[in-house]
Amino acid sequence: MTISADNPSAPDAATAAELYYDPYSVELNMNPYPVFARIREEAPLYYNDKHDFYALSRFDDVNKALIDHETFISGRGALLEIIKSGMEIPPGTLIFEDPPIHNIHRNLLSRMFTPRKVLALEPQIREFTARCLDPLVGTGRFDFVNDLGEQMPMRVIGMLLGIPEEHQRRVTDHGEATLQSTQVDLLATGEVFAEFIDYRTEHPSNDIMTDLLTVEFEDETGTVRRLSRDELLMYLTVVATAGAETTTRLIGWAGKTLAEHPDQRRELAENPALIPQAIEEILRWEPPALQIARYVAKDVEYYGRTVPAGSAMLMLVGAANRDHRRFPPDGDVFDIHRELRSHMTFGAGTHFCMGNALARLEGRIALEEILKRFPTWEVDWANAVPSPTTAVRGWEAMPTFVS
Ligand code: HEM
Repeated sequence: MTISADNPSAPDAATAAELYYDPYSVELNMNPYPVFARIREEAPLYYNDKHDFYALSRFDDVNKALIDHETFISGRGALLEIIKSGMEIPPGTLIFEDPPIHNIHRNLLSRMFTPRKVLALEPQIREFTARCLDPLVGTGRFDFVNDLGEQMPMRVIGMLLGIPEEHQRRVTDHGEATLQSTQVDLLATGEVFAEFIDYRTEHPSNDIMTDLLTVEFEDETGTVRRLSRDELLMYLTVVATAGAETTTRLIGWAGKTLAEHPDQRRELAENPALIPQAIEEILRWEPPALQIARYVAKDVEYYGRTVPAGSAMLMLVGAANRDHRRFPPDGDVFDIHRELRSHMTFGAGTHFCMGNALARLEGRIALEEILKRFPTWEVDWANAVPSPTTAVRGWEAMPTFVS
């Protein structure tokens, strides 16, 4: 809209026109909160005509929409670019499936994530964390991402599946110096999973992988059968994709957030029993995934406007998490003592993150072990690097000077 003397409302309209959220902007996604606050108050049903999507931002709206999986479906993707591309979704991708088939697959996979199995990993995760951190004591430097956050999630998924470290060594067949990064790359491509599936098919054991290979289930056609090798490989790849970068980014955000709140960090160092609630507050305050996208399967009305079937809807997790209606009095304040209320960082409804307990456990152990060795740190801003991705956003390097 042009601003002119005969259009007295023009300045307001101009301001409203500036209310623009670009989900693909790396820079904006590093600090989207001022824009999110305005969207929440001024445009609770937001429409972006450049990228042609709608967005919800208030906590209650996002929560209810995610639960309503009949109106907002995942079968065309849960990332905006995938929905907009119109690509064919390969079968068996879980995160891009809808009930009833989603329920069948989720039930199968849920045997990986029972609280008992997750908690049992604690000593191993702690030992791994100590191995990453101990060589850095006395150096004065620690990078939250490169020295720990990057390696931890894939190594933990390996632990969960019972992939022995020596198996990964055999698979990598590289020198000791490059072992760690090579392992991570191979795990990310699914090669280690494929090798291990084949190994466990030949050598069954009493671990999760054998369980997943032998469990019988009724598929969508009513046939009772086992998972095929390729189906299992697909699930494990989905788990790795969903669980690795997100958790890496959580650890990077923990480094930045606590550096900026030294009083609360001191409390945590003095009283580690507060760490679980600090992780919860970091998850709320800086969610690694700012948005969850859905395809709108049928017309739906918000704030007097119809969102037509066929649209893309973004659930602005990062906006919902700071909604003062849910997190009074001010959702923009970081406070580890805030009343504990569930946030949207792990989603809601039928696709609620299956790895949430694992991510929380990793975050807690990481902070416990870091604070034990380095009770204070300052960010080395000259060398901090934002990650170039926007679906999951955060830090590719979060180097700090520690003491
Ligand atoms: C801080 C770390 C994490 C964050 C922020 C996160 C976030 C999310 C979100 C928002 C969803 C829902 C997506 C949707 O509704 O479309 C999701 C689903 C999922 N997450 Fe996580 N996640 C994290 C860690 C993990 C970990 C560690 C694992 C496993 C090792 C994992 C496995 C999964 C799986 C399998 C799904 C799909 C569930 C389904 O479609 O039913 N996540 N995650």
